[in-house]
Amino acid sequence: MNAFFFITAILLASAAAVICCPPSDRAALLDFRTALNESHLGIFKYSGKGNDCCHHWIRMSAATRPTDRVADITLRGESEDPIFQRDHRTAYITGSGLPSYLWTYLALEVSTMADWKGISGPIPSCITYLPYLRILDLIGNRINGQIPADIGRLSRLTVLNVADNNITGWIPRSIANLSSLMHLDLRNNQIRGTIPRNFGKLRMLSRALLSGNRISGPIPNSISYVYRLSDLDLSLNRISGSIPPSLGKMGVLATLNLDGNNISGLIPPTLINSGISILNLSKNSLEGDIPDVFGPRSYFTALDLSYNRLKGPIPKSISAASYVGHLDLSHNHLCGQIPVGSPFDHLEASSFMSNDCLCGKPLRPC
Ligand SMILES: *[C@@H]1O[C@H](CO)[C@@H](O)[C@H](O)[C@H]1NC(C)=O
Ligand SMILES: *[C@@H]1O[C@H](CO)[C@@H](O)[C@H](O)[C@H]1NC(C)=O
Ligand SMILES: *[C@@H]1O[C@H](CO)[C@@H](O)[C@H](O)[C@H]1NC(C)=O
Ligand SMILES: *[C@@H]1O[C@H](CO)[C@@H](O)[C@H](O)[C@H]1NC(C)=O
Ligand SMILES: *[C@@H]1O[C@H](CO)[C@@H](O)[C@H](O)[C@H]1NC(C)=O
Repeated sequence: MNAFFFITAILLASAAAVICCPPSDRAALLDFRTALNESHLGIFKYSGKGNDCCHHWIRMSAATRPTDRVADITLRGESEDPIFQRDHRTAYITGSGLPSYLWTYLALEVSTMADWKGISGPIPSCITYLPYLRILDLIGNRINGQIPADIGRLSRLTVLNVADNNITGWIPRSIANLSSLMHLDLRNNQIRGTIPRNFGKLRMLSRALLSGNRISGPIPNSISYVYRLSDLDLSLNRISGSIPPSLGKMGVLATLNLDGNNISGLIPPTLINSGISILNLSKNSLEGDIPDVFGPRSYFTALDLSYNRLKGPIPKSISAASYVGHLDLSHNHLCGQIPVGSPFDHLEASSFMSNDCLCGKPLRPC
């Protein structure tokens, strides 16, 4: 959430009458506080009076909308708040579960409880009954259980971030119904199962970060219909099958990380001559030659094809690429002379090591 808006919201609320929210909202916030524990910094010490629920929610920013309902709960563990800086530490909230029923009291649009490291328990299933929810950000806690199966009800949700938790289960099929979703971050959990086949329905999605789970099965072809997608990170999972060539034809896809899976087949030539500038296919089971189709459209800040089963020579057309910064072709079965000229003149031996019979600078002469 934009900090300026956040401050504005508080000021608007402060200028209104002291009773800023209905008693049920206030009760919900109080319950919220009671359910969480932060012993060191006193984050949840409350010094408000009466029915006031917009002042003195020390450290628990509960911003109200002009309409008097609490719309935003933002609790960030890694923040620049002076209370953290003075203590030179980040806070550690514990609590066995996000208080469940009270969420439904609130007309929440934004719920951020990020980087507290100690909040456990599942995502309350009733959050799917918050019709205005736009942002759900629970990154960096110890949340377990599954993503609610009916998450797809949240038709206004733009950000779903539950990265760095301990979430299990499958990606709910209903996720494809989140028609406003722009940012999906499920990284570093224990999610298993396959990527829903209808993932391509997420037409607003620009970042899909699923790395560091136990996701298996193929990359659904439908992903290439997500025409706003600029960042797709499926790395460090158990994905198999081949790479859909249509990924290389996506309009704005700039980062494609598929490293650390069990992807097989050939490298689609479309990926080489595309708008992708970071391509990591390392640590898979890719076979065949590196497509010899580099051209002016090829602009790679990083191209990592290491630890596969690629064979054949290094394509001469790489010299025709607009730019290749970092290149790693190590740990394959490549053979033949390393071409000369750009980009090979600035690469080190480590980019080429552990192949079958590569030779020439920076390796030994042929
Ligand atoms: C908060 O911590 C105190 C002391 O460690 C403990 O007695 C209490 O049960 C905790 N409350 C919750 C909600 O975890
Ligand atoms: C995550 O969940 C697994 C399985 O329930 C459990 O064994 C593990 O200790 C949990 N890890 C953390 C950090 O809570
Ligand atoms: C997605 O939404 C449609 C229309 O509201 C509904 O019929 C369908 O059951 C939903 N899909 C899932 C998997 O929830
Ligand atoms: C590509 O992925 C591998 C394996 O996950 C990782 O070790 C490597 O650093 C990545 N390469 C780049 C250029 O980020
Ligand atoms: C990788 O995929 C191949 C089939 O392409 C399969 O035989 C193999 O068991 C898989 N390996 C792992 C570790 O899943």
